[in-house]
Amino acid sequence: MNEGLRGTAAPPAADIILLLEIAMGVGLVAGTWFARTGLFRQHAWCQSTIVLFNLAVIVLGMIPSFRVQVLPRIPAKLEKSYFALAAAHATLGSITEILGLYILLAAGTELLPEKIRLTRYKLWMRSALVLWWLVLFLGFATYARWYVPNLFR
Ligand code: HEM
Repeated sequence: MNEGLRGTAAPPAADIILLLEIAMGVGLVAGTWFARTGLFRQHAWCQSTIVLFNLAVIVLGMIPSFRVQVLPRIPAKLEKSYFALAAAHATLGSITEILGLYILLAAGTELLPEKIRLTRYKLWMRSALVLWWLVLFLGFATYARWYVPNLFR
């Protein structure tokens, strides 16, 4: 058995994803503080970098794992917490990342047609941050279910 973080059974890739995701979650909160103190350029750079970096982590790390470990067992094994947690995490995670990319395009560029640009920035950005942290906790739960023995049994 592998020896991951603090003696869990996690492979190194999972531990790296876990640490990167914690750093990004904290980074987004730091970026919120930039906005609150009027540093809007820094805010925009910080949040955009995290949303794009997260896209890379999803595409390179999480989607491949999802396709191998979870997708073939949906819907047959969805009653098992092992797959249900990961599926809920992946669904909400996809929505949140797409929302992050949409906000980035709508607030930071003029690429989108006028009709679908944002007007209520604060509401959308706050909602995205709350959703992100929810997804992060579902990611922690997935990690715990997958790699911390005897926790759920
Ligand atoms: C805001 C977006 C997301 C955040 C913050 C996030 C966060 C996390 C965290 C902290 C973990 C635990 C580390 C690990 O077990 O590797 C994790 C695992 C995982 N996530 Fe995500 N995630 C996001 C989006 C997604 C998406 C879009 C998918 C799939 C379509 C996905 C699928 C998975 C899977 C399958 C695992 C288990 C990976 C493994 O250990 O092999 N996640 N995620």
